[in-house]
Amino acid sequence: MYKIVSIPGDGIGPEVVAGAVAVLQQLSKKHGFELVIEEHPFGGASYDLHGEMLTDATLEACRNCDAVLLGAVGGPKWESLPHEHKPEAALLKIRKELGLFANLRPAKVYDALIDASSLKADVVRGTDFLVFRELTGGIYFGQPRGYDDNRGWNTMVYERYEVERIARLAFEAARKRDGKVISIDKANVLEVSQFWRNVVHEVHKDFADVVLSDMYVDNAAMQIVRNPKQFDVIVTSNLFGDILSDIAGMITGSLGMLPSASIGTKYALYEPIHGSAPDIAGQNKANPIATIASVAMMFEHSFGLPEIAREIYKAIEDTLAQGLRTADIASPEETALSTTDMTAAIVRQLGA
Ligand code: IPM
Ligand code: MN
Repeated sequence: MYKIVSIPGDGIGPEVVAGAVAVLQQLSKKHGFELVIEEHPFGGASYDLHGEMLTDATLEACRNCDAVLLGAVGGPKWESLPHEHKPEAALLKIRKELGLFANLRPAKVYDALIDASSLKADVVRGTDFLVFRELTGGIYFGQPRGYDDNRGWNTMVYERYEVERIARLAFEAARKRDGKVISIDKANVLEVSQFWRNVVHEVHKDFADVVLSDMYVDNAAMQIVRNPKQFDVIVTSNLFGDILSDIAGMITGSLGMLPSASIGTKYALYEPIHGSAPDIAGQNKANPIATIASVAMMFEHSFGLPEIAREIYKAIEDTLAQGLRTADIASPEETALSTTDMTAAIVRQLGA
C-alpha cells in the first residue's frame, strides 16, 4: 500500500496533479498495488481557506505518508503579502520542516523535442545529467539576515554534516550512472565555498571509483550552455543550484517536462520544476508531463521500483514519438492537446 499526500496548490497545480493522479491510478490497477491519495491545501489555496499558506494539518499529513506530490504555488493574488506570508516562504518552510536536504533535478533531452531547444541540436542531443542541489541550508536559511534603510544582509553558511550528506548522495547516484561528479562552488572568492570543496573531497575518499572534479559556478553556467554533454552528476549549494538548474532545465527546451525530487532521511516530496503559470490556469492547457515524470521519480526514490519509473518514462517518450504535443511544446503547425487529452494518451500508453 502506498499512501500519497497530494497538495495541488495554485494556478495550473490542480490540473497537472490530476494528470499525475490518473497515472498513479492506472499503475495501481495494472500492477495491483493499493493506493491511498489524500489531498491537502497548500499555498494561496490554503491562505484563502485558513489564512495560512502552510497549516500544521497539511504538514502533519506530509509526515504521515510515503510520499508527497506537489503541484505549484503562488499567483498574482498573493504577491503583495508581506515576505513571511508569501507562498515562497511556505515552500521553504515545508522543505525545512520535512528535512528535504537534497533536491534532484534531471536535465534530460527528449529526442522528440530536440528542435525545441534554444541550442543547436548537435550541442544538446544526448544531454542527460542530474543536479543535486542542497536545499535546506546555505544563504537561503543562514542567520543573520535582514534589511533596513541603509543595508541589506544575508549569511551563507554550511555545516560539515550538511555538505557531507549531499555529497554522499551525489556520489552514490554517480555510481549508478556514468561515475562522474562535478562539484560547483566559488572557492576562489568565498570561504564557505572553500570549506564546501574540502568536505566534498574528504567524502570522495569513500568513493574512489567515482571521478570527482571541481568547477567555479560562473564557468559552470557557461559550460552548461557550451557543452552540456560533459556533465553527469552536479553537486552544489542551495543558491548556485537554484540558478544552475534553471539554466539546465531551459537548454532541454522543455521546462514543462522536467520533474524534481526533494528528499531527506525520512520524507520526500515530488514536484514539477515549472511554476503555477497563472496566465493559463483553469484552461486545460497546461503540460502534465513534468508532474507525471515526478511520479516516476517517486517510484524510483521513495518506493524502490525503478522498473515502474522506466515504464512511466517510456509511456511519455512513446506518446511524444506519436507526435502528440501540448501547447507549450507544439510547433505552430501542430494541433495542441489539452491537459486531460495528453494525460489520457499517456495512461493509454501505459496500458492495463
Ligand atoms: C525553486 C524556486 C524556489 C527556490 C522559490 C520559489 C522559493 O525558485 O524551487 O527553484 O528559490 O528554491
Ligand atoms: Mn528556482
